[in-house]
Amino acid sequence: MVELELRKVTKKYGDVVAVKDLSFKTRKGEMLVLLGPPGAGKSSTLKMIAGIEEVTAGEIVMDGQVINHIDPAERDVAMAFETYALYPHLSVFENIAFPLRSPKRAHVFSEEVIKNKVVEVAQFLEIDMLLERKPKELSGGQRQRVSLARCLVREPKMFLLDEPIAHLDAKLRHRLRRDLKRWQRERQTTTVYTTTDYLEAFSVGDRIAILNRGILQQIGTWEEIYNQPADTFVGMIVSDPPMNYMNARIVHEGERLFLEAKGVLFRLSLPVQEKLRSMREEEVIVGVFPSKIALVEEPSVVSSGTVIDGVVKFVELRGSRKIAFVSTGRDFNFTVQLGVEENVRPGDQIRCLFGEEVLQVFDKQSRKNILFLS
Ligand SMILES: Nc1ncnc2c1ncn2[C@@H]1O[C@H](COP(=O)(O)OP(=O)(O)OP(=O)(O)O)[C@@H](O)[C@H]1O
Ligand SMILES: [Mg+2]
Repeated sequence: MVELELRKVTKKYGDVVAVKDLSFKTRKGEMLVLLGPPGAGKSSTLKMIAGIEEVTAGEIVMDGQVINHIDPAERDVAMAFETYALYPHLSVFENIAFPLRSPKRAHVFSEEVIKNKVVEVAQFLEIDMLLERKPKELSGGQRQRVSLARCLVREPKMFLLDEPIAHLDAKLRHRLRRDLKRWQRERQTTTVYTTTDYLEAFSVGDRIAILNRGILQQIGTWEEIYNQPADTFVGMIVSDPPMNYMNARIVHEGERLFLEAKGVLFRLSLPVQEKLRSMREEEVIVGVFPSKIALVEEPSVVSSGTVIDGVVKFVELRGSRKIAFVSTGRDFNFTVQLGVEENVRPGDQIRCLFGEEVLQVFDKQSRKNILFLS
């Protein structure tokens, strides 16, 4: 089990800054997920850790030792490439066996051991029937699994998995989210895993590091991120539909503070009132995840939070949940996530509860979560 640390790592390709001042530390045996949209700098980060891209500035540290100038082959990390990078002239079997036959390890594994290892990982990834084929005879999803198998067949110090299941069908992707995690946990191999999919990140990651344009926005467990997204970008990327945002201003009524948005007064918990009391800026952004808005019965009495009435504009069914698009008639619309059992139709009047504890408050300029800053 190794501990990996990045210290202010920057990667530039000419004028393009792909990764900027990136710092984080994995725990030993941890699965850390880099989550970010295309172009966020995920692959560049993995390639620098693997040593196949040079670091422009900063340090990559493994178990306390700076490894910037250590040859990739000496780093003992296994990477599954986003682009697969298979050897076209070798069979699937030989592609997977390749790292086990590298000159440094040839004396370690007998042919029988190599065969057993290749077959085990091929069965795990459901490609054991393809072992005799060449890469050109495979579908994209099959190639991806060969690339992943070539990485997993080893027992390196670290796995670097670059969007390893992005091109698989939904059923296999679901199984592998769970089983890759199990594979990694059983071996306790420190892993950095990338994805653009927040659900995948949350299901495989012990912690998640969110990248935007090469900059780390937040790192934490999914509970930490979901309970307190560090900025409006995070609120957008960890929720589908994204967090609801409204421009609001802080209103003082005697000792009490409210947030006012489009004529609605949001009640705030006492700790939130205290945080906002010291703020100079009056203008803020309120954010609420669609999954944290509750339907309430009419008529209802609620002692905390804020009730907002609206009309359902349309409803989208998404597997085991429904998304309702709600209009308040005040230039203020929002989305709510409901269970499939909720019988809500376009045109229905509904009443929604925005609990005090589910409101996030962001600075209008920096877009940082004001409640997050201590
Ligand atoms: N070899 C290169 N030369 C020039 N620019 C590059 C190169 N590789 C990546 N970039 C740029 O660096 C930025 C980060 O790219 P990177 O591939 O690391 O992103 P990513 O998060 O892996 O994206 P994706 O989800 O699409 O794989 C992008 O703006 C990209 O265009
Ligand atoms: Mg990439």
